[in-house]
Amino acid sequence: MKIDKVSKWRGLLWILFFVQLLIAGDCRGKTKAPAGRKPTANPNAQPTANPNGGVRVNATAKQVVLDNGIVQLTLQVPQGYIIGIRYGGLENILAVSNRPSDRGYWDIASTNSDDNDRTDDQIRLVGASFKIIKQTEDQAEISFLCPKTSKVPLQVDYRYILLRGRSGFYSYAIFTRDKGTPATDVQYIRTVHKLDTQKFLYMAVSDKLQRVMPMNRDRETGKPLAYKEAVHLTNPTNPKIKGEVDDKYQYAFDHKDNKLHGWVCTDPSVGIWLITPSDEFRTRGPHKQDLTSHVGPNMLSVFHSIHYAGPDLIMKFTNGEPWKKVYGPYFVHLNSGKGDPRALWQEAKNQLQEELKSWPYEFPVSEDFPKANQRGSVELIFFMNDRSKPPVPANLGWVGLAQPGEVGSWQSEMKGYQFWAQTDREGKFTIPNVHVGKYNLYAWAPGFIGDYKSASEIDIAPGKQINLGDQVYTPPRSGETLWEIGFPDRSAAEFFVPDPSPNFANPILNDQENKYRQYGLWDRYSEIYPKQDLTYTIGVSNHTKDWFYAHVLRKTGPEIYQPTVWQVVFPLKDVVPNGNYTLQIALAAANFAALQVRVNNPDSIAVFSTSLVGKDNAIARHGIHGLYQLYSIGIPGNLLKSGQNTIFLRQPRNNGKFCGFMYDYVRLEGPASPK
Ligand SMILES: *[C@@H]1O[C@H](CO)[C@@H](O)[C@H](O)[C@H]1NC(C)=O
Ligand SMILES: *[C@@H]1O[C@H](CO)[C@@H](O)[C@H](O)[C@H]1NC(C)=O
Repeated sequence: MKIDKVSKWRGLLWILFFVQLLIAGDCRGKTKAPAGRKPTANPNAQPTANPNGGVRVNATAKQVVLDNGIVQLTLQVPQGYIIGIRYGGLENILAVSNRPSDRGYWDIASTNSDDNDRTDDQIRLVGASFKIIKQTEDQAEISFLCPKTSKVPLQVDYRYILLRGRSGFYSYAIFTRDKGTPATDVQYIRTVHKLDTQKFLYMAVSDKLQRVMPMNRDRETGKPLAYKEAVHLTNPTNPKIKGEVDDKYQYAFDHKDNKLHGWVCTDPSVGIWLITPSDEFRTRGPHKQDLTSHVGPNMLSVFHSIHYAGPDLIMKFTNGEPWKKVYGPYFVHLNSGKGDPRALWQEAKNQLQEELKSWPYEFPVSEDFPKANQRGSVELIFFMNDRSKPPVPANLGWVGLAQPGEVGSWQSEMKGYQFWAQTDREGKFTIPNVHVGKYNLYAWAPGFIGDYKSASEIDIAPGKQINLGDQVYTPPRSGETLWEIGFPDRSAAEFFVPDPSPNFANPILNDQENKYRQYGLWDRYSEIYPKQDLTYTIGVSNHTKDWFYAHVLRKTGPEIYQPTVWQVVFPLKDVVPNGNYTLQIALAAANFAALQVRVNNPDSIAVFSTSLVGKDNAIARHGIHGLYQLYSIGIPGNLLKSGQNTIFLRQPRNNGKFCGFMYDYVRLEGPASPK
């Protein structure tokens, strides 16, 4: 992976700058290591527990301390809030100036469905009873039980685990609804870790996206932009970042790329990392995007949310509907080094590999978390039969097991578990470690439109590997390709993503791969197309330059946004007047939008139109995809002519500036031919 040297140097300069600030006595808080405890970086030099390295549990009426000589974890009893993490010479890694309930906790946003004054506020899960589940030299596991309340209509048993010799701790939770539970909507389930604001200044969420971050107070003195989460840093403590935009959504990742993120303190050199070794319990599998770490400094594990999806992903329970699901375990890893944050990131990546190797964990005590021998697996070879070619192995296709349902239903399925794997270049793969139960097999592959679903249900049994042999997917196609725009992979990343306005940039997002994360790109459309909307000419235009990544509204005045009509101009020979042509339009995202398709006459009756589609908010949240949708639109040959034709794509809705689409792929197929 290429490390950008410039930003590396800039990173180092920032660190120096902040170190100077600290030395200059810019006191943002009052925490000091107690006298006599040197802030050294080597945790093993200061054993705090059993001299033999065993795990110790020390519970009083008010708190419980877990200690393995490397990490010391203090939780409030019986609530279960993490109030302290001692490690690597730091007395407390968490934000000690926050109330005990506001440092490390699980929370939920849920409402009784018939509650009129519903809010989407996150509420802490507060334990009412505390129990030591296991206490040996090798492992401590403790439980906080949160009973069903009017605010949180389900029961949660959440656990913390400390193992001997392990630099960090595990957590997971068992969510249960019994038969008496009222109808409920659940929008969010997550855990939050709020870190020492003076110490943790450097955030890393990927090899590339790492930096010294703005401070919380820089956001407070800044100017909120189109969404309150996006803040223009107009008066930051560090003058060099003046004018930058900060927004936690800029650091969102697909679950598959959201396995490791965290923060670094440079003096002493300590890192704290959130490691998620599996997507099985996360809503919607590997391609759902969610938050990671952000200014605070905060570190999240989001298990369930409606981010980048909208209300389709609200988890809805009917009155009395029973349910049980285990979220986690995840691992909070701690490491220490010699001052280079990238070295700590690197070590944490190695630790992620260790966690992946030991998944599914054998040590959680709850029987609701199945161990390896209680799980089954599936193997098969996935082929694509796109008529124009013989069946070809799916190259890096995605195949998953999810609750039985319709084609594509896994996209908005979140009550169960999902198990996904990526095929190799020969289409082969195994999905390991699947929970026992009934599933459908779902799949899709880059380069092909649509979704595959297995004809029959698959019954996973413990310890058994099911070989499903060759599975062949025939993607939608009615005729040969006349032209196509983009590449079908459920993302708009291959299209033209503009540079941000220099007034709203975040300097670490300037590379091609991350540019779509920049703030305010939707308004760049109106600057590039001030008078006339985009026209794309087949054979002349190039989708990497001439197809704007999002079909957004055009700004024609302060806060005035107009609907837009894009044109695709294409030549055609030998039109079959009574033939049925097909326009395949795959959307990568949609937000309060509608699509109307007209052929050769912008004022004609639309050959195709939708009502409102999508509330995934991917445009405003700097995503490059939301939920996937495919339209196969019949175009009667008598609307086409020999010579030049135009297809008009109109997005008519303009209530709010973020109405629009991201296209994944557009293709015109010739007249339907016999299969
Ligand atoms: C389209 O533009 C990209 C980027 O400039 C270039 O790499 C590619 O070759 C172009 N494609 C065609 C078909 O000209
Ligand atoms: C034309 O093709 C579309 C898309 O493949 C299909 O939905 C429609 O039924 C076809 N219409 C006719 C008249 O065959």
